[in-house]
Amino acid sequence: MGFDAIDVIITKRERGALSTAQIDWVIDAYTRGAVADEQMSSLLMAILLNGMDRREIADWTQAMIRSGERMDWSVLDRPTADKHSTGGVGDKITLPLAPLVAACGAYIPQLSGRGLGHTGGTLDKLESIPGWRASLSNDEMLGVIRAAGAVVCAAGSGLAPADKKLYALRDVTGTVESIPLIASSIMSKKIAEGTGSLVLDVKAGSGAFMKNVDDARELARTMVELGTDAGVRTVALLTAMDRPLGFAVGNALEVEESVEVLAGGGPSDVVELTVRLAREMLEAAGVRGAKDPEEALKDGSAMDAWRRMISAQGGDPDAVLPRAAEFVEIAAPESGVLAKLDALAVGVAAWRLGAGRARKEDPVSAGAGITLHAKPGDVVTKGTPLMTLHADETARFERALEALEGAYAIGEDGGDDLLPLVIDRITA
Ligand code: URA
Repeated sequence: MGFDAIDVIITKRERGALSTAQIDWVIDAYTRGAVADEQMSSLLMAILLNGMDRREIADWTQAMIRSGERMDWSVLDRPTADKHSTGGVGDKITLPLAPLVAACGAYIPQLSGRGLGHTGGTLDKLESIPGWRASLSNDEMLGVIRAAGAVVCAAGSGLAPADKKLYALRDVTGTVESIPLIASSIMSKKIAEGTGSLVLDVKAGSGAFMKNVDDARELARTMVELGTDAGVRTVALLTAMDRPLGFAVGNALEVEESVEVLAGGGPSDVVELTVRLAREMLEAAGVRGAKDPEEALKDGSAMDAWRRMISAQGGDPDAVLPRAAEFVEIAAPESGVLAKLDALAVGVAAWRLGAGRARKEDPVSAGAGITLHAKPGDVVTKGTPLMTLHADETARFERALEALEGAYAIGEDGGDDLLPLVIDRITA
């Protein structure tokens, strides 16, 4: 049935609920080009201001899924699991997590994205490994899963094309920050990807999409409902992003830190979150008698899965990773306890050093980024390095240093007002 775009816009402008038929029509007509950008912009703004109820969000998500292909992993003989993070600074968790969960008995078919703005993208990180390829056909994905248990690659253009078009429009019309639109955008891609179970890592804090815990909880709840309604076993953890995760921020730097975790070492926060998410994924996937993730990090089986996964996508797991040519150290201005290290400021500084991009088509530097030498709560001594900034050109340091002004504080004690690493767990 056809509708008039103006009637659909007015329904939402007047705080009405859109019918299933209206939603199906408007998403399909917009994807085909029969509803104009200016009409869709107006509808998106009405949704941002007036919201959508649970049924509308589920219909909106399903309509975006139907705009493209839905992947199917039923040929595989093990349960599938995936994780999605809403993004943060130093969030490299997918890199150790995917091979770890594969080593414990689930298959991971993960479609990932590139970074935009101050949060990094998993594909940008993996592309710092010489030879590694992000674009795979569906058959190649299946081959990598069979060889390594896990695949992390780019989503093809056939997956939720309505979301691609809508997200580009939201980006330029001030309509990104709507929980129904964010939740449906993320979940349309994850449900279309065909995973049987999904663990969401919804971050809260300055370096996250959602700055406060209440908004993050609402986003998590909305996504868990959407996954559950679509038959995907979905659970969410609310986690801290008021300070960076781990000590490394930047593409190759984060790969190095991830390999340390896979070798049984690495920073305690990265290890704790990786193991916690791995256990959640195995439980959601219903893997019986799974090896415990902590053991798989210690006995080398997660590292073996990582090496297979990287090699199966053309990468050399033994290659020396790119390094930036230039570096600058920031020393502690006084002795005491590092009381604050703001995630957003560190993310913006790493971005300005070249680790991130401002526009979709920009390249990123593999070696650029920041190595932290202390985290909030650590004792620091005047004159010793707090962090090292890495860039390909010295011209980049000035603006990165500007971003870090006021980003850290040293006191007599500190770190007490930090969010707990795992704030809450949300289930259906
Ligand atoms: N990531 C997405 O994929 N969609 C959004 O709307 C926001 C973040």
